[in-house]
Amino acid sequence: MKILTLQGSARKKGNTATVLGWVEEELINQGHEVTSIYLHGKNLNGCMGCAKCKEVPDDVGCVQKDDVPEILGRMVAADLVVFASPLYFWGVSAQLKAVIDRTYSLYTRYHEPDHASLLEGRRQALLVTGAGGWDNNAEAAFTAFGRMQNPHKTIHSGTLYTGKCTTPADMDASVREQAVAFARQITA
Ligand SMILES: Cc1cc2nc3c(=O)[nH]c(=O)nc-3n(C[C@H](O)[C@H](O)[C@H](O)COP(=O)(O)O)c2cc1C
Repeated sequence: MKILTLQGSARKKGNTATVLGWVEEELINQGHEVTSIYLHGKNLNGCMGCAKCKEVPDDVGCVQKDDVPEILGRMVAADLVVFASPLYFWGVSAQLKAVIDRTYSLYTRYHEPDHASLLEGRRQALLVTGAGGWDNNAEAAFTAFGRMQNPHKTIHSGTLYTGKCTTPADMDASVREQAVAFARQITA
């Protein structure tokens, strides 16, 4: 499978990068082709809501000239996209949210009978790390992600929340096991 991962934390060696690294390691071990994008290193503008993209139904029609159209093109070319983020005020990071908002340019005529999406049939998964220890701590982020998948017409491959995060050094072996299980689940 061709897999794209979007690392949404600014911290290159932080909790999200560590858990995502274990997921990627397992995906590569399974023989998948993995490309990872560190979003904080990119030039990412927010969606302008201009809707010019809706005039270009068969391509990434966003008119902004930053790094996002290329990322969106990679999303379209992937079989599976793994979105990864620290939990920031019960949502995803601004870097990842900017990319998610710009996926507005990948579908047309949502709620109409001829609704079409360049992502139709692709898989998507979300991995979140946070400080809070509650099982449902990332529920708001997971709900928003699931709803995003309706206009995208994508397949929900799975979610993983890693809570009680302090530093990567403090993560016990069970976190790595969960990351490996998640990698297997989202490609099954
Ligand atoms: C701006 C900010 C907002 C945060 N909001 C939350 C939150 O809503 N819930 C939570 O459990 N942790 C929250 N945290 C903690 C981070 O999600 C947590 O430390 C995460 O694992 C950091 O990941 P990173 O090391 O990849 O950056 C927040 C941290 C920051 C800096």
